[in-house]
Amino acid sequence: MLKELLEERSGEDYELYARGINPQFMRVLRTIGFDRVWSRAEGQYLYDEDGTRFLDLLGGFGMFNVGRNNPHVRAALVEALELETPGSVQLGVSLLPGLLAEELLKRTPDRLARVLFTNSGTEAVEAALKLGRAATGRARVVSAVHGFHGLTLGSLSANGGPHFVERFGPLLPGFSQVPFGDLDALEQELRSEDVALFLVEPVQGHGVYLPPDGYLTAAQQLCRSYGTLFAVDEVQTGLGRTGKLFAFEHWGLEPDLVTVAKSLSGGYVPVGALLMAQRVYDGVFDSLEHSVSHGSTFAPNDLAMAAGLATLHELDEARLVERAARLGDVLLERTRSLAEAHDVVREVRGLGLMWAMEFAEPESGSLSWRVLERMQTGLFAQLVVVPLFTKHHILSQVAGHELPVLKGLPPLVLSEEDIVDLVRALDDVIGKAGRPARLAGMALRAARAR
Ligand SMILES: Cc1ncc(COP(=O)(O)O)c(C=O)c1O
Repeated sequence: MLKELLEERSGEDYELYARGINPQFMRVLRTIGFDRVWSRAEGQYLYDEDGTRFLDLLGGFGMFNVGRNNPHVRAALVEALELETPGSVQLGVSLLPGLLAEELLKRTPDRLARVLFTNSGTEAVEAALKLGRAATGRARVVSAVHGFHGLTLGSLSANGGPHFVERFGPLLPGFSQVPFGDLDALEQELRSEDVALFLVEPVQGHGVYLPPDGYLTAAQQLCRSYGTLFAVDEVQTGLGRTGKLFAFEHWGLEPDLVTVAKSLSGGYVPVGALLMAQRVYDGVFDSLEHSVSHGSTFAPNDLAMAAGLATLHELDEARLVERAARLGDVLLERTRSLAEAHDVVREVRGLGLMWAMEFAEPESGSLSWRVLERMQTGLFAQLVVVPLFTKHHILSQVAGHELPVLKGLPPLVLSEEDIVDLVRALDDVIGKAGRPARLAGMALRAARAR
């Protein structure tokens, strides 16, 4: 039935989406030439209707750590459906949520004692905000400039960049941001002892900014000193992305709150979770009356739980966390050589398979660069993303609004050959990106899209 329907309506993808969902987004995709009709996906690859293979460096914004359409996760989902498991009784529980909580807590520091499941990353963050406030009896939340925590109103209030925030105010009261890496600014905020939680990504996703040495350890210490919960947002960095199961392991941190989502279900079904210290649980779910103080109808549902269990198993079995660490080093080393070859590459950075390349005007000066930047800050990175896709069949993204940064979050099943292909493609594209003809084409397309 579904197969026939998809065959019958094949090719109408963009037209239908424009008609019923979001025509503006379709204009953007058409303008930059990303309006391919996709026919299937496997591992680190997407295939269009002509069978052309694309390397997925974007990884669904980091939700396909175990690879797209991972057969083991799929088998677990099919099995769960066939077993007709008795999930979501609501006034009663099934076995799968408890099993996934057990597996998550087995893999995290003892300080984390309880799990609250959600349906997405932003919901896990919302839970951290609400539970953090209730557990401490404090109202304020501090987060980091450039931080990203999701797009619902609470998470949005914690976001540290104006782009997602403007037009949606007023935001929640009691939120403030400190520069990522600035311990003095953090202490200044915490000193008043009215901050419920400090919410921070261990590696900032927007821009892929790594923390300065010692920062996160000292931030955790400051939180402990002033009675603030230390909340680490692992929605993007978790599940092996940075070469550890959770990024906080790189620094031996013991957070009070940890948010996860994205790859927890292998990218198949919406899922999220908030891992919390006993103190947080006890402070919120402190009586029979408060036993269901926070939750959501679909969380936890058996399909998400089955996918979560299979994903953790797959990360272990296929040794994907180690693979992310090893291939991340290879990716950094090979792409750093491009920084030597091209003046316009300012820096290559990353941790595991969370990778970025930052561009800047060459020291010798470049008219093309300045013209582009005047049109729109960060446009050069778009000049790289577009031909990477159209010519070299690599799907990537700019790391954030108006950032001259190219970003990669590939499935952790990436191969060394993929990295070789990527480096060759980048070398070609960066070399050509600043040429006047490319510049004129881009200006024209940008003007048409307005
Ligand atoms: C660090 C971080 N937190 C929260 C979110 C929000 O997750 P979701 O898109 O599942 O709501 C994201 C999404 O990109 C993220 O990167």
